[in-house]
Amino acid sequence: MFFSLCFLLSTSLTEMSNYLSPTISPGSSRSTQQSFIASQSTRLLILMQTNRADKDDPERKPRIILIERGKTRRFMNAPEVLQGLDWFGFEVVKADPRIDSNLDEFVRLVDSCDAIMGVHGAGLTNMVFLRSGAVLVHIVPYGIEFMADGFYGAPARDMGLRHVQYSISPDESTLLEKYGWNHTVIKDPEAIRNSGWEKVGEFYMSAQDVVLNMTRFGSSLLKAIELIM
Ligand SMILES: *[C@@H]1O[C@H](CO)[C@@H](O)[C@H](O)[C@H]1NC(C)=O
Ligand SMILES: *[C@@H]1O[C@H](CO)[C@@H](O)[C@H](O)[C@H]1NC(C)=O
Repeated sequence: MFFSLCFLLSTSLTEMSNYLSPTISPGSSRSTQQSFIASQSTRLLILMQTNRADKDDPERKPRIILIERGKTRRFMNAPEVLQGLDWFGFEVVKADPRIDSNLDEFVRLVDSCDAIMGVHGAGLTNMVFLRSGAVLVHIVPYGIEFMADGFYGAPARDMGLRHVQYSISPDESTLLEKYGWNHTVIKDPEAIRNSGWEKVGEFYMSAQDVVLNMTRFGSSLLKAIELIM
């Protein structure tokens, strides 16, 4: 049973690696990538078998609550994000905190999750309802990496949560389409930052949405799964 599971998992992962490539050096070949993924997945499977958080229910998938934002810093490819999370074996709970008016119910919902995921913003403060040891998967839009840890990373660690930070590349930001590679907004976020908080707000906080590259993001999800188990 165990070995056939291993086989199935590494076979489907080999398939997946056609578009999934975790952080390995750019020059590495396809087969190196495949064996990297296969070795990662086998390691994870062994962890799953031996060290499950929920031993009473071995079938239980890791649960992740996905925080969606309303107006800015949204996921432009939400269906693909959901599909990717499903592929990685997560049970996804969707939440828009503004409309979940029943606080009691919402708190219970978050508390039942192993991880919370969302783009940098107020919705992530719902991490206070997670149990300790749970994981914050924190997606950082382009140009605001400098404040990512201070706002959510450090507080998460202080609460006994684990923090997985994923900073998007320009090609995962709607800013690239708007400004192009040669504009200061893309080329030199530090210059924008030096010109004042207002500019950071104007460009990076209120005018940017995210197109998450699930291939690149995959290694962050693997890290989260490892921390959950
Ligand atoms: C960006 O700038 C370089 C040189 O500074 C130029 O060769 C290139 O055509 C520019 N690209 C765009 C898209 O404007
Ligand atoms: C996503 O990221 C991978 C790995 O970095 C890259 O090879 C691929 O071109 C990216 N996909 C898109 C649509 O940009």
